[in-house]
Amino acid sequence: MTWAVISTWKMSWKGCTLAADLLRQGLRGSEAVIRGIQDVEDNPEFRSVGYGGLPDEEGRVLLDGAFMNGDSLHFGAVAAMEGFRSPIAVAHSLAKYDFNNFLAGKGAEKYAAENGFERRNNLTEESRAIYEKKRGESQSLSAYDGHDTVCFAVLDQMGSMYTGVSTSGLFLKKCGRVGDSPVAGSGFYADSRLGAACATGVGEEIMKGVLSYNALRNLKAGMSPQEAAETAVSELSETLIQRNGKARSMSLILLDNRGNFGVGTNIRFPFVYAAETSSSTLYLAEAENGRCRITPVEDKDSLDID
Ligand code: GLY
Repeated sequence: MTWAVISTWKMSWKGCTLAADLLRQGLRGSEAVIRGIQDVEDNPEFRSVGYGGLPDEEGRVLLDGAFMNGDSLHFGAVAAMEGFRSPIAVAHSLAKYDFNNFLAGKGAEKYAAENGFERRNNLTEESRAIYEKKRGESQSLSAYDGHDTVCFAVLDQMGSMYTGVSTSGLFLKKCGRVGDSPVAGSGFYADSRLGAACATGVGEEIMKGVLSYNALRNLKAGMSPQEAAETAVSELSETLIQRNGKARSMSLILLDNRGNFGVGTNIRFPFVYAAETSSSTLYLAEAENGRCRITPVEDKDSLDID
């Protein structure tokens, strides 16, 4: 059986290549999602996820993460969780239950502590320094400054599909603010009979269009993966421009259940894709008249976006 993996941003290159190796060996897609995302969560150079993530307005790194099993439709999610290494690992663990799948704040931290998840102070000296420098200037920050979610969608050799996401959310967000990432349907969705999708960008915009689920509905209606993804993003963008005068950044990755990918964006958006028939490749998607121009990036170092 074929396999495939797609992930958001250049920062996921190493994690995506690792996930592809696991899928090639026939491991479960859940393992590939977790290991791929943890590679990003553990890297302090990426300031929008895990260790080294940028803090909220009180200087605390509060993390969101989610995992979904496309066979059973079970999901697990954590929001505003502080002091633990891996939101994706905790979210994955929560997906095995029938109730209490989405835990926030103190509840998420209590569950993680009781179940032996590794603790970590995710605020690095570098992130603290950026916070100290910028907090006085917070009025001039745009909502998207310094923030991107790592998202993975996977098809494994057993035909099962999974998604996972992890983020520190908006830099200087209000204490307790939660974006789209841990919200099923908006930040992620997986159904092994159809496909898997996940989103990155400004959560407040993505949630207005329940973006990931909506893209899969397009797939179900008969669109190709590329049409399904770009239509979901462009229709939501258009609606927001009509109603509010502007649409903030949003991007979406999608796999169908045969491993074909689709991507939608209203910005310049790098992503990584690997499959049985194609080694890990970094692509750049660029919004163009409601469609997406997608080009492979030969020289990763030349790309100015992480
Ligand atoms: N997309 C992640 C967030 O808005 O927090």
